[in-house]
Amino acid sequence: MKYVPTHKRVVRGKRIHETVEERHSKLELEKRTPELSIERVEAEFLVPTIEIFVETEQVRRLKDRVKLWIKVGYPPHIVGPTGCGKTTLAMQVARELGRPTVWINGDEQMTTTDLIGGYSEMEAESVRDRFVHNVMLAKDRTKFTWVDNPLTLACKYGYTLVYNEFSRAKPEANNVLLSVLEENILELPTMFGDERYIKVHPDFTAIFTSNSIEYAGVHKPQDALLDRMVDIYMDYYDFDTEVKIVQAHTGMPLQEAKKVVKAVRILREKLPEPHKPGTRAEIMICQGLNAMDGYSKEDLEQIYMDILATKIGEPKELLKKGGLIREILSETYGDA
Ligand SMILES: Nc1ncnc2c1ncn2[C@@H]1O[C@H](COP(=O)(O)OP(=O)(O)O)[C@@H](O)[C@H]1O
Ligand SMILES: [Mg+2]
Repeated sequence: MKYVPTHKRVVRGKRIHETVEERHSKLELEKRTPELSIERVEAEFLVPTIEIFVETEQVRRLKDRVKLWIKVGYPPHIVGPTGCGKTTLAMQVARELGRPTVWINGDEQMTTTDLIGGYSEMEAESVRDRFVHNVMLAKDRTKFTWVDNPLTLACKYGYTLVYNEFSRAKPEANNVLLSVLEENILELPTMFGDERYIKVHPDFTAIFTSNSIEYAGVHKPQDALLDRMVDIYMDYYDFDTEVKIVQAHTGMPLQEAKKVVKAVRILREKLPEPHKPGTRAEIMICQGLNAMDGYSKEDLEQIYMDILATKIGEPKELLKKGGLIREILSETYGDA
């Protein structure tokens, strides 16, 4: 059937449909401007904020090394034992670069989609067109919306990406990083046409952190990727730095803070690598002690046990360690 207009139609009010041109210009705009404000991006990707950053000579030197390699153009990969201060250092450097920071935490389940994004929103759209009073046009459409994840956001807009616990993700999930670091191109495998390749923004920076290889759940990243980074090995900070960190977080008086750091450091010496307690254990012990209204020798032992047992793991070994903790406490606090 052919529709033959019999009289000139007058359309009142505003048109409810966009023209194709309007739709396109909007798409262009959507492509160019980040749709989320940086506050939302940071909240969405649970970017941890570093409120307390202690900077001693040792910390500053390490920080400058990380920044040096960024300046040269190689992403730094901070490697060290749990609780030595890798994440804090990475976040602080990221902040000092002055660009928005996005964040990924690697784990066993992580996939490329978690890094780049995907079609994660589905929108059903119905169009009911009654432009012509006796003709009804009905159309149902399903629209998939692409949502950027941190790597894509960082590459597109020149953000700083902190990829924490990078070696906990399976190596294949990280393959997408190869072309980013080598050719400055991000490939979105599930996209088509022009949108498949994104040229990496000149302000893009990536900082990686990893636990040393002897930790459970750590994968060895592919050599090709490691080859494009600069590994910066760090260890626990020196005694004075740790005391300052503990004090900054807990307000513990100097002499008390020193005792806690000393005790934990002795224990660290005595335990094998994956069980060594880090700076966080010292902070937590001080918080426990602070919350008590004075403490006896038993209280002290209990606080240390509570914190160190969780940090050290393996209940089987606990009794042995119970004896060890008692020994160390009498060494640091005296027998009184
Ligand atoms: N330079 C620093 N200034 C203040 N706090 C620090 C600093 N370095 C580490 N910390 C604190 O020590 C603990 C362990 O640091 P974190 O960065 O989480 O270690 P890692 O990532 O190596 O496990 C955290 O509670 C953190 O706040
Ligand atoms: Mg960490």
